[in-house]
Amino acid sequence: MPATVAQHLELRDRHGRVARDLRLSLTDRCNLRCTYCMPAEGLPWLPTADTLTDAEVVRLARIAVGTLGVDQVRFTGGEPLLRRSLEDIVGAVAALRTPGGTRPEISLTTNGLGLAHRATALRGAGLDRVNISLDAVERERYAQIARRDRLPDVIAGIDAATAAGLTPVKLNTVLMRGVNEDQAVPLLAFALERGHQLRFIEQMPLGPRHTWSRDAFVPSAEIRALLAARFALTPIGRDDDAAPATLWRVDPSPGLPGGTVGIIASVSEPFCGACDRTRITADGQMRTCLFSRTETDLRTPLRAGASDEDIAALWAGATWHKPAGHGIDDAGFEPPDRTMSAIGG
Ligand code: 5AD
Ligand code: SF4
Repeated sequence: MPATVAQHLELRDRHGRVARDLRLSLTDRCNLRCTYCMPAEGLPWLPTADTLTDAEVVRLARIAVGTLGVDQVRFTGGEPLLRRSLEDIVGAVAALRTPGGTRPEISLTTNGLGLAHRATALRGAGLDRVNISLDAVERERYAQIARRDRLPDVIAGIDAATAAGLTPVKLNTVLMRGVNEDQAVPLLAFALERGHQLRFIEQMPLGPRHTWSRDAFVPSAEIRALLAARFALTPIGRDDDAAPATLWRVDPSPGLPGGTVGIIASVSEPFCGACDRTRITADGQMRTCLFSRTETDLRTPLRAGASDEDIAALWAGATWHKPAGHGIDDAGFEPPDRTMSAIGG
């Protein structure tokens, strides 16, 4: 019976990992142009006809949650708030149930622009948490990295998310040598003061070509050294086995409360062995990894009338071949053809 078969499917790969965390990209467009992610101009957008409709997005989420063992759904972009119907999509995904009868945990990765007006409605629709990108606390520096002078809007978005209960609000920072290393300490002070969890993400070779180099990314050990100049840090491990961030406790210090800080050392200390992610791009391509050079087209069968069981089998079958690691250190490593904005973070 197909239904029985489907219930036993899961997103398992030949290295023994099982994906339970679905990253759904809702658009490749963005209202910022962060230097490490997008070129200043000239990146062609996906044609609208190729972008999954709301109903298609929700159907893929239903297959993932209802039959493939996914229990966490994160919406990404580009900038997912550019999707006007985000509240409706969140509401529909919040109504899904795993085979065990539980509701998936729903989160959002956003640059925070426009969140001030939508945080309450998103919370009401069923959104649990947000991660907001913040690469500087100085307005000019922020504008230099994001290529848009929007820091006050981002801070308004962070405040609104906190007030709406989209907590813990996590802030994501990409440090770049010679660009914003001096922001590491002020960013952590900002986060501690307001009770947010800051996570530094090592820059990955996922932006425009030639914007990443071994010398330009700031590795975890160096981030810790930058922070140690002002804060006392004690390692506390990871949140759970599949969580990418290694956490440190930060002691209270004069004028500041204590808290935690995370470092996502994707490049210098890869955590591919514990990866539990599966990704869908805004145009309906399944990727087993951020760095995949192959994708599995789910949009075409979806539009050609494939059943949920067919899609589930295709998704599970392609997952089996998920590579063991991203291979950034391998000779002949080639970054993916799409930038992060088109893959989904
Ligand atoms: N390396 C590391 N992090 C990146 N992000 C975007 N591009 C890169 C990159 N090349 C981050 C954003 C955001 C999240 C989706 O991923 O800052 O916080
Ligand atoms: Fe937009 Fe996020 Fe890329 Fe910045 S990192 S340009 S906010 S998609």
